[in-house]
Amino acid sequence: MYFSLRTKLFLPLVALTSALSVYSFTPVAGRHGMVASSEPIASQVGVEVLRDGGNAVDAAVAVGFALAVTHPAAGNIGGGGFMLIRLASGEAVVIDYREAAPFAASRNMYVGSDGELIPHASTVGALSAGVPGTVAGLALAEEKYGKLGLARVIAPAVHLARDGFPVSYGLSESLRQDGDRLAKFDASRRIFLRDGRFYEPGEVFQQTELAGTLETIARRGAKGFYSGPVAQAIVATMQKYHGLITEPDLARYHPIIRQPLVGHFRGYEILSVPPPSSGGVALIEMLNILEPLDLGVPDSYVCMHYMVEAMRHAYADRAAYLGDADFASVPVARLTSEAYASKLREEILHSKPDAPIAAGNPQAFESSQTTHYSVVDDGGNAVANTYTLNNGYGSGVTVEGAGFLLNDEMDDFAAKPGKPNLYGLVQGEANAIAPDKRPLSSMTPTLVLQDGKLRLVLGSPGGGTIMNTVLQVLLNCLVFRMDILQAVSFPRFHHQWMPDRLILERVGFSADTVQKLREAGYQVDLRGALGDCEAIEIDPHSEWKFGAADPRAEGKVVGY
Ligand code: DON
Repeated sequence: MYFSLRTKLFLPLVALTSALSVYSFTPVAGRHGMVASSEPIASQVGVEVLRDGGNAVDAAVAVGFALAVTHPAAGNIGGGGFMLIRLASGEAVVIDYREAAPFAASRNMYVGSDGELIPHASTVGALSAGVPGTVAGLALAEEKYGKLGLARVIAPAVHLARDGFPVSYGLSESLRQDGDRLAKFDASRRIFLRDGRFYEPGEVFQQTELAGTLETIARRGAKGFYSGPVAQAIVATMQKYHGLITEPDLARYHPIIRQPLVGHFRGYEILSVPPPSSGGVALIEMLNILEPLDLGVPDSYVCMHYMVEAMRHAYADRAAYLGDADFASVPVARLTSEAYASKLREEILHSKPDAPIAAGNPQAFESSQTTHYSVVDDGGNAVANTYTLNNGYGSGVTVEGAGFLLNDEMDDFAAKPGKPNLYGLVQGEANAIAPDKRPLSSMTPTLVLQDGKLRLVLGSPGGGTIMNTVLQVLLNCLVFRMDILQAVSFPRFHHQWMPDRLILERVGFSADTVQKLREAGYQVDLRGALGDCEAIEIDPHSEWKFGAADPRAEGKVVGY
């Protein structure tokens, strides 16, 4: 059954030169609905909500709260993100629930008296936290577009927090790896490290304080987080660890409904997120540059050269122009115009690969966490949601008595314009810190439409690498005709203009291609996994759903 569908959808198949054994596996298929997330229990929660009569938004909100319990490195109620919703009616919106700078934040708050950045000030501890947006964002999504109501969709998360769930190998390892940072803060040390008795795989992890917070939100809605005892607990934690967030900051926070950014690529319609994420702008700019080029075979030198040059231009523009468009003037229309792309394409075709550029931060791309999930329901509604605490376990600070971690999203601002951040991203004036402003993101939850019908739902974590992961999975599906699991599994590469390095995943690229890239002048570095794409593809003919959880991580697709 599945094979005939796949044959219909994906012929003609191109010759794939990489030797990944994953190609012998098949994507998960589902007739009705599907959830792909980076944590299996949360995916199951989402599908149970769908089976219970919930729509894709109900399921997405349930998954968001469940991940805050089962995937604490990135799932969160103390962070923020972007939810891209498209209803079967064709209405599409982005809920921007990105964190906001506290009112007392200021342009040079992370710069010391010597004029240099204060080490770790924007990445560890309460001062690195922006005003969290997740609870307001998820509650708004549920209220406007869900069917079941907040109490129902939070219930599984309350249960998982109160009764516990078995710790996976990955969670056990990541708590150990980030142990030093978590150990600096009392509640984090007690809850996530059990005061040094690390959780082993299979042990049950209960989070009583978090269960109480989630119950309060279930009862009072977003107000239960942004006012009353939970808000007071956040402020008390800020005072203890010298952070800036106040009760008025929390009371003032609001998610913003934005129009999705729309691009076109070879007859497909691309919907993605506008500023304060750079993701949609960069993705559409790169797709526009690549549109008429003959990309040939996905891991050939020619294809990679064109893609890398498109990446370099998009990231150079990101550094120069992008920030929160409610505070700075951001030339979105120009950057995503076809005329601009055609000028850049001419430059690429007439210049040598990789013109020399000053190096950035060698620390870029080290371990960090965000999480993306994709949901599709039986009625044709879809959600692509990416949210994060920024670094794995965010700032490391857990709100005392409330049991959840706070983000370190302030690091996504240009703490000192021109100096690289955690991801080695150099950013400019448009992304300087200001009160209430939202830091520039790279999160890129994306939908692709074919003939007006939903074809792809995807996104990924990975800091500055995110839009390149989304670009590659999208091209793998739409241009190279891979099925969704092949597309997600295929080896990835990344260039962000500065530092001037072309990062290739260590496994999967042929030695010949790597050599040609080096000979052409690219500074090639081989590294571990890039991203964790959780994607769903819909067969335009049969409307069957096919999903892939990225084999680079521990995620799972559940369909029914
Ligand atoms: O918003 C952003 O672009 C970053 N805070 C995302 C961080 C991230 O993806 C870390 N993940 N692996």
